[in-house]
Amino acid sequence: MCGIVGYVGGASKSSGAHGAVDVVLEGLRRLEYRGYDSAGVAVLGDGGLEFRKKSGKLTNLVGAIEASPLPVSLTGIGHTRWATHGGPSDENAHPHVADEGRLALIHNGIIENFAEIKQELLAAGHEFASETDTEVAAVLLAEVYRGEAAGDLTRAMELVSQRLEGAFTLLAVHEEHPGVVVAARRNSPLVVGLGQGENFLGSDVSGFIDFTRRAVELGQDQIVTITPESHRITDFEGNPAEGKEFTVDWDAAAAEKGGFASFMEKEVHDQPAAVADTLLGRSDSAGRLTLDELRIDPGQLKRVKKIIVLACGTSAYAGSVAKYAIESWCRIPVEVELSHEFRYREPIVDADTLVVSISQSGETMDTLMAVRYAKEQGAKTLSICNTNGSTIPRESDAVLYTHAGPEIAVASTKAFLAQIVATYILGLYLASLRGNLFTGQIRDIMADLNKIPGKITDILDREDEIKELARSMKDEASVLFLGRHVGYPVAMEGALKLKEIAYIHAEGFAAGELKHGPIALIDDGQPVFVVVPSKRGRDSLHAKVVSNIQEVRARGAKTLVIAEEGDEAVREYSEFVFYVPETPTLLMPLLTVVPLQIFACELASAKGYDVDQPRNLAKSVTVE
Ligand code: F6R
Repeated sequence: MCGIVGYVGGASKSSGAHGAVDVVLEGLRRLEYRGYDSAGVAVLGDGGLEFRKKSGKLTNLVGAIEASPLPVSLTGIGHTRWATHGGPSDENAHPHVADEGRLALIHNGIIENFAEIKQELLAAGHEFASETDTEVAAVLLAEVYRGEAAGDLTRAMELVSQRLEGAFTLLAVHEEHPGVVVAARRNSPLVVGLGQGENFLGSDVSGFIDFTRRAVELGQDQIVTITPESHRITDFEGNPAEGKEFTVDWDAAAAEKGGFASFMEKEVHDQPAAVADTLLGRSDSAGRLTLDELRIDPGQLKRVKKIIVLACGTSAYAGSVAKYAIESWCRIPVEVELSHEFRYREPIVDADTLVVSISQSGETMDTLMAVRYAKEQGAKTLSICNTNGSTIPRESDAVLYTHAGPEIAVASTKAFLAQIVATYILGLYLASLRGNLFTGQIRDIMADLNKIPGKITDILDREDEIKELARSMKDEASVLFLGRHVGYPVAMEGALKLKEIAYIHAEGFAAGELKHGPIALIDDGQPVFVVVPSKRGRDSLHAKVVSNIQEVRARGAKTLVIAEEGDEAVREYSEFVFYVPETPTLLMPLLTVVPLQIFACELASAKGYDVDQPRNLAKSVTVE
């Protein structure tokens, strides 16, 4: 997930035109929440194309432009990067330049077939300065522009877009076309901003909200060419197409949050994309997993006798969910351990142990220390991480990145879902290497995983049901959460969300553990959330959880149930039921946790708390 801005202005200030550098930098400042690994700007001045790019936050780029100013210009593009292919460095920063410095391109997304295209371009004699998929698109665009498209930038973009697979928003400028920015969009966001004698492009409206509120949403697989006076939309074949015009009624601050009241709420809504992006490019249609990025000898992975998952907080709950799936698919024992406990208990680790660390930030000191300790003991270390180039992946033998995009709210939501997806991809990969699952079985599970984004969207469409419940419960002193099997870590996560942002006492339990003590807590009116397993899974499990609902209800509890669509058995014993779409049991946590996140977020907001920055907490915990 990166931030993208484009701008074209008219020749004079009277037409409302601004300077391209200022407009693009202002847009990038508002979009920086989408990624801050590097930033770059390209403009077309009187002397042709010029660009500056710098790794690190936008302030580094601003410093570079102050030190070496860009020319006065009315055409520009800018990018703020969340690294996917290639680490966060100056070389990998966008824009990428081709056609001997005359064409600049920026990109958001992942081009799945970039390796194949790169081979062709290398064979044709092209050279590359970076490790990115974006540079491949830039070089291809230049080649098509000079060849088949005969100097028509829009046509070149259409032809290139037909070749590319995956997700992309591309913006290009060429010095032979001052006053023109051409953009393409597939599976990745792009909006046009309509000004007076000037037009804009942005990953979202916050990219131009300071200049105009009139916007046009592009459809899937569309190209747009903007000039100061026009915006022309086509499909990838060049046929005329229409965008959807709307007026932005948010203020600038709300725009950064996509119109949501908080980053947390926005990130809950980012989850369909976080899951889809984490799945993207990791399997083919036949069900073969393509994890070359792991850079770990498959022979070594095949020999693994034990997996230890190291993580803290929400990431540890993602690990607990993964345990059920990996053990079921790979028949390898999986231990999940809180990182800060691990190295103080003389753990049994050897060269046949795979230590999988899970960390959104990649900087959590407890997890880093545990990974270092595991390495010293001879284990192979693999990091599942959302932050490209951070310390834990750098120090691990292998890494599998989640592509949730930057998570700003302290309470983790979309990173949690992306972590579960990444562990599942890893589990399926191990199962295929070890011959535990056939390709057809893996293909079916991947197909089910690919349906998850749509199912989350369905839940989000019905969020008012759970929001209303949350508002009605804002004065509760304590809420309990129960679950079994994969529902158990979901219950723990539901309780953690409520504790950390709503400051309400909350506890999660394995439902079977109730009778061993916690049931003594149940009193008249005690709210208890119960995460109910699928009826289509192990029958006995469903029946046992329904019995647990009855047990707490009989003691006065107010029972709030998260169940699968069509599960009528729970209605009779529940004050409130929220249904999630049907899905295989092991994938259920990707759905059942979503209403619990919405519940915590809404309840904390109803109490008037700052949900993005809860008291006493930090996003990245870099102390032990
Ligand atoms: C809770 C939360 C934390 C983190 C934990 C680990 O919402 O975000 O519990 O999950 O601090 O952080 P990472 O994943 O960055 O290692």
